[in-house]
Amino acid sequence: MKSSGKTRVCAIIGDPVEHSLSPVMHNAAFKELKLNMIYVAFTVTRNELKGAISSARILGFQGLNVTMPHKNAVMKYLDETVSTAKSIGAVNTILNNEGRLVGYNTDGIGAMRALKENSISPEGKKLLLLGAGGAGKAIAFQAAQEVEEIVVLNRTSEKAERLAEALGKKFGKKVKGESFSSEILKDEMRDTNILVNATSVGMHPDVNRSLVPRNLLRSDLCVMDIVYSPLKTRLLLDAEAVGAKVVSGLEMLIYQGAVSFEIWTKQPAPIKVMKEAALNKLEEKGVHR
Ligand SMILES: NC(=O)c1ccc[n+]([C@@H]2O[C@H](COP(=O)([O-])OP(=O)(O)OC[C@H]3O[C@@H](n4cnc5c(N)ncnc54)[C@H](OP(=O)(O)O)[C@@H]3O)[C@@H](O)[C@H]2O)c1
Repeated sequence: MKSSGKTRVCAIIGDPVEHSLSPVMHNAAFKELKLNMIYVAFTVTRNELKGAISSARILGFQGLNVTMPHKNAVMKYLDETVSTAKSIGAVNTILNNEGRLVGYNTDGIGAMRALKENSISPEGKKLLLLGAGGAGKAIAFQAAQEVEEIVVLNRTSEKAERLAEALGKKFGKKVKGESFSSEILKDEMRDTNILVNATSVGMHPDVNRSLVPRNLLRSDLCVMDIVYSPLKTRLLLDAEAVGAKVVSGLEMLIYQGAVSFEIWTKQPAPIKVMKEAALNKLEEKGVHR
């Protein structure tokens, strides 16, 4: 669709943003659904954030994605932040709702949707989450609403403990947050149903690293790694080798984008098209399917 006076604009803001897969994913989706919308990327430094949000408001942008380092700082410039995003302390999606800027976090919903779309049901399950960084926190807040039990292990133990305390208070579920150690991991893995790596371990160029030794993996496990470069991390290769069900970080990436798309357009996202666009872009960068 050609741009016109009626074209609505969405954008990603962050620093850096050049590597983002969001423009190709969303533009492919707009084209597929013949929406008169366009998605662009803007480098916005910390000092420019306030001005950028004010400009997006004045220029009537339909929506924004927010990435590092602004996910937390952006909240103070919005009219409203939905409660889950508030609890997580991070906004990655903004909707311009007739002049009111509303902040959401789609990372956790995206991760849980990626599991469900791959026929992994969280109901009644124990989820072991490795990592309590930005993405880990978002996944924990969504997962805690859906699973039976959640255990968070993090290298910096205080972060896992604080997160578990917040989850316990909010959802009253079985939650535990501990430091990451091989003994604790071995112990927690025994009755885990769903294992999620939400750390950056295994990410390119450190592709041979995994936090989980292969002998702890079982064929009845479901394993998701949110790292998407490489598409199959060492953890996922090991999990596949023992016959476990695996979900790649690309799936989470697609579904968190899909949730943003649905917030802005109120239409179901064309998942296949978004996935193909993201995969093509990753291939251009040397990440092969
Ligand atoms: N697929 C997707 O859609 C998606 C979305 C968001 C992020 N991601 C990916 O997820 C990863 C984490 O992102 P983030 O935004 O959560 O980053 P972050 O906030 O910086 O958190 C990094 C996490 O990794 C842990 N970590 C880092 N190095 C470690 C090591 N050597 N051993 C053990 N733990 C280690 C950190 O532990 P400490 O707290 O102890 O430092 C922390 O829990 C990145 O690779 C990112 O690209 C993917």
